[in-house]
Amino acid sequence: MTPIALPPLTKDLSRVLIDADTIARRVNELALAIDRDYRESKENLILVGVLKGSFIFLADLSRKLNVKHSIDFISLSSYPDSSEITGNVRMIMDTRENLENKHVLIVEDILDSGFTLDYLSRNFEARNPASLKTVVLLDKPQRRKIPFKPDYIGFEIPDVWVVGYGLDYAEKYRTLPYIAQMNPVDC
Ligand code: IMP
Ligand code: MG
Repeated sequence: MTPIALPPLTKDLSRVLIDADTIARRVNELALAIDRDYRESKENLILVGVLKGSFIFLADLSRKLNVKHSIDFISLSSYPDSSEITGNVRMIMDTRENLENKHVLIVEDILDSGFTLDYLSRNFEARNPASLKTVVLLDKPQRRKIPFKPDYIGFEIPDVWVVGYGLDYAEKYRTLPYIAQMNPVDC
């Protein structure tokens, strides 16, 4: 396969980990699986994207789904001083829709320590949804600090920082069409 040229500004990026065609094919497969599983959901399916990283994945996934669904978003943040140890997560922006009796599918860009999705799934379970599942585009199983099993996983990746297709490093590189590995940043 011809290597994909990186734009010149991206000297921080070491390689393309997942190219755009591979992402598109996998998103299609995920949509087929979700369509199959939610055939009976009677239009009560809601995709809840976790901002900001999931916005491109959610847009693509949503457009590949045949099953009727609505979309909503939440925004979360980790307490900066304690996230590595306790993973304290707080809600910055909640959903607009009431999740009670809805089939809720959380759409997340990447599962890392597991703290975000552990927090979110507990928070959403308390709202009595008809069902609650999670789809993550990327999973870094080696980084897990708290057990969490998503219902759908796009790709398992190694313990490296990745950007592109919605994912950022300090708000940069979100709009790359592929997922790239970053070079370690000097601190
Ligand atoms: P967790 O709570 O550690 O599972 O954190 C997941 C969140 O950390 C994701 O939603 C991302 O916002 C962020 N994150 C983790 N790894 C990466 C990465 O490699 N690139 C970009 N964001 C990441
Ligand atoms: Mg995220």
